[in-house]
Amino acid sequence: SIPKFVKIVEVGPRDGLQNEKEIVSTSVKVELIKMLVSSGLPVVEATSFVSPKWVPQLADAKDVMSAIQGIEHSRFPVLTPNIKGFEAAMAAGAKEVAVFAAASESFSKSNINCSIEDSLARYRDVALAAKNHAIPVRGYISCVVGCPVEGAVPPSKVAYVAEELYRMGCAEISLGDTIGVGTPGTVVPMLQAVLEVVPVDKLAVHFHDTYGQALSNILLSLQMGISVVDSSISGLGGCPYAKGASGNVATEDVVYMLNGLGVKTNVDLGKLILAGDYISKHLGRPSGSKAAIALSRT
Ligand code: HMG
Ligand code: MG
Repeated sequence: SIPKFVKIVEVGPRDGLQNEKEIVSTSVKVELIKMLVSSGLPVVEATSFVSPKWVPQLADAKDVMSAIQGIEHSRFPVLTPNIKGFEAAMAAGAKEVAVFAAASESFSKSNINCSIEDSLARYRDVALAAKNHAIPVRGYISCVVGCPVEGAVPPSKVAYVAEELYRMGCAEISLGDTIGVGTPGTVVPMLQAVLEVVPVDKLAVHFHDTYGQALSNILLSLQMGISVVDSSISGLGGCPYAKGASGNVATEDVVYMLNGLGVKTNVDLGKLILAGDYISKHLGRPSGSKAAIALSRT
């Protein structure tokens, strides 16, 4: 059996746009977020408080946050890699944050310039500060089945990082197949290992569709009891520090599948497609969502 309700965490404005070379204006980002909220998405990851040298696209994080302050009905978590980012996020009015570790040393180094252990130490500080502000923290793990440098990642490594994030107080742990190499053959053992150390209601899955495996992997995650799914409008994204990582699974495709399964999301597919059209036109390229393309023809 699968969950009756799935919470979709929309990561397009952050994970989607962070990879775009051409700077997208703050007003376009804000309009996209507003359209995503009006489609009914309960969580829209808005931006990152990271080094602007590392991710120039999100250098306007403070301005994005101030423009969306009054918007109701959705939560707007932001990425914070350290205390500096956490403090900037608090000053900008963020009410939820996310930290991001990796299950592979090489990826940790290239993405956040430190080892897994050092990142966990930083995140303990962020988690403590967040607790003092009563701010929920989401913990991401990248490269949960494969790493662009190291290849296959052992499930035990993912379980170790997941348990550490859980212990430091992360309210939700998102398991990211950053380079989209996972198949049900590798994702199932990874999830089994994580489920031994973290309760199922604390887990989210974050698939990239690089090899066309994302929806299969989402379906089996639902069958294993997970009810939080990350996705990105029009399949935008990739990670600037994961060469060859194509887009996240498209939110439109996830909602289309969940509608077909009779699983509630509270998301209006028609309005979602309008948000996807808006950003795809702005970026000057076709949507990365098969459902959006098919529905726009009918
Ligand atoms: P570093 O260079 O090792 O940091 O970067 P540092 O502490 O030595 O500081 C260097 C400079 O950055 C200093 O400025 C700091 O003040 C500044 P300078 O003195 O040179 O002018 N700095 C900051 N500025 C703004 N905000 C901050 C901040 N911290 C330091 N928070 C650091 C380390 C972590 C900062 C850097 O590597 C970084 O920002 N990395 C972020 C990379 C990133 O955002 N990647 C994408 C997100 S992860 C992802 O996409 C995967 C995920 O989606 C899951 C999946 O897909 O599987 C989550
Ligand atoms: Mg991602």
